[in-house]
Amino acid sequence: MTASGLPPRRAALSALYAVLWEKQMLSELSFDGLSGEDAARAGRLTAGVLRHMGRLDQVLRPYLARRPNMAAQNILRLGAYELLVDGASAHGVVNDCVELAKARKETGRAAGMVNAVLRRVAETGAEPWAASAPQRLPNWLRKPLGKFYSHDTLLAIEAAHEAGAPLDLTPAHLAVTVEGADVLPTGSLRLHDRPQITRLPGYETGDWWVQDAAAALPVRLLGDVAGLRVLDLCAAPGGKTLQLAAAGAEVTALDISGARMARVTENLARTGLTAQTVTADALTWNGGPFDAIVLDAPCSATGTIRRHPDLPFVKSPGEVETLTRLQMQMIDRARELLIQGGRMVYCTCSLLPNEGENQIKAALGRHADLTIIPVDPTTLGGDADWASPEGGLRLRPDIWADRGGMDGFYMALLQRR
Ligand SMILES: C[S@@+](CC[C@H](N)C(=O)[O-])C[C@H]1O[C@@H](n2cnc3c(N)ncnc32)[C@H](O)[C@@H]1O
Repeated sequence: MTASGLPPRRAALSALYAVLWEKQMLSELSFDGLSGEDAARAGRLTAGVLRHMGRLDQVLRPYLARRPNMAAQNILRLGAYELLVDGASAHGVVNDCVELAKARKETGRAAGMVNAVLRRVAETGAEPWAASAPQRLPNWLRKPLGKFYSHDTLLAIEAAHEAGAPLDLTPAHLAVTVEGADVLPTGSLRLHDRPQITRLPGYETGDWWVQDAAAALPVRLLGDVAGLRVLDLCAAPGGKTLQLAAAGAEVTALDISGARMARVTENLARTGLTAQTVTADALTWNGGPFDAIVLDAPCSATGTIRRHPDLPFVKSPGEVETLTRLQMQMIDRARELLIQGGRMVYCTCSLLPNEGENQIKAALGRHADLTIIPVDPTTLGGDADWASPEGGLRLRPDIWADRGGMDGFYMALLQRR
């Protein structure tokens, strides 16, 4: 940490307010005015508090005579997080949290309470922390998940969210290794500490790209794509485009966002791979037809909560409904862009069946010329029970928990007759 811990702590509090009150995603916030190191620390503190907020509130409750306002509660959450999870020195944490309370009108009067509560948390908080229950998902998400997954699975998913995510890399070819990385049965390289990505060997030479182990599987459902014309219909930032290009496909990478397409172009340049890039709306763009399509549709991203603990606090059921309609339209459009006999992978990094299993069942009902080709997960290095009844694959963050888990994902392989 820098000489003063105050600037990142102050920035973390502002970020907590932006997420919890203004419903902004952490990835959209910038920590202007902070050094790179402090900005990274502010981001880590914010994510840490959000990841453990349920537990922090449980631990704090008995120390509080009455419920503080949200600004004071956030100071307490931040302090308790640093004391109980981060292992920061009690002296620095308590002093800075008191300073932060004094600095604002709405928390000024709570400075004494912050001091007293955090001192007690430092002295006696470890035991209640160990006994506290893992953070639960908010009801808007917990309810639909509870209808689809068993209670035990839901608890395991919530535990996986708290545990966070390792760093997964997809090697550009089989010979690539990275020192210290585990090789998963599915072929991804996994690093358990979170190194700075640009400093890892092989970054400059484009030997690998960052991609969660689950996200690396949809492209593999297509089998051998060498020489095929493949459309990556929602391509940015380009993980699947890179996989397709590395496998020898003639790739068209399309995305609606120019800024995000720039990242695809950067990733192609870094890895020395080629694809035609198109910035356009998938629903209105005309091209093809294609031998194969990857449709990694925009979704709630509820499968990525391990890495985005802010997500449950920001997204809403209304947004998910809008996305579900868009996914349906995209499946219909992708079907039109396929040759007869062509194959399409539909996937979403969502835990919600409406963005996965149900979307595919509905598509098969709408289009008599679409069939599902059931996937055997063991051919991908996965477990047999990843197969879902309609023929797709259902991945969850609690799968392979002892190895570090994986993103929640759904994927299915369709063919146009
Ligand atoms: C899940 S992300 C894709 C991730 C990407 N396939 C990868 O593996 O790196 C979904 C993408 O869909 C894009 N998108 C959203 N609406 C779109 C539309 N109407 N047409 C094309 N792309 C769209 C978003 O900009 C976003 O980049």
